[in-house]
Amino acid sequence: MNVIVVYKSRYGSTRGIAEFIAEKLREHDVQAEARSVDTDPDPGEYDAAVIGSAVYMEHWMKEAAEIVRRNRTVLAERPVWLFSSGPLRLEPGTSPDDPELEPKEIAEFREVIHPRDHRVFFGALDPGRLGLQHRLIRKLPAGRALLPEGDFRDWDEIEAWTGGIARALGAP
Ligand SMILES: Cc1cc2nc3c(=O)[nH]c(=O)nc-3n(C[C@H](O)[C@H](O)[C@H](O)COP(=O)(O)O)c2cc1C
Repeated sequence: MNVIVVYKSRYGSTRGIAEFIAEKLREHDVQAEARSVDTDPDPGEYDAAVIGSAVYMEHWMKEAAEIVRRNRTVLAERPVWLFSSGPLRLEPGTSPDDPELEPKEIAEFREVIHPRDHRVFFGALDPGRLGLQHRLIRKLPAGRALLPEGDFRDWDEIEAWTGGIARALGAP
């Protein structure tokens, strides 16, 4: 079983999640490598795929959505898990499973490639690394409320999810 963990990351925190997932799969004796969408990986060369993107303005990054669409036939024939790395803070009374937090593309991907699961993970934000446009968005009132500085990635949660993938792929 050879698994590709494909990711698209703007500032690196989603890359960190993808590399962690690949490392944890290997610890379960599942052959796995993390590859950025930017290296033009071919999911057809693997038995299963985990695909994740950072979320900006409620959407997956364009290149991540495109690789799913371009490879939809191959992906529909394989076990696929999707993750989104996004929220930094939740509105009171909401949880990461709330449909509202689901990036807009996920409903389409469910229809087209039938992923085994889609999971939203908390992300990270380092204001010093933001591009100008993102810095400006963060200054808006909604941005200030929902885009705090910090690393909110929950490694235990990501590890537990990865364990489920390893078991589904037949790992002990
Ligand atoms: C301008 C801006 C807009 C964002 N919009 C969203 C959003 O709509 N939904 C969400 O869950 N996270 C949003 N985020 C949070 C990012 O998804 C989070 O910081 C993520 O970890 C970034 O991943 P990266 O470091 O791989 O690029 C936004 C962040 C910024 C800076």
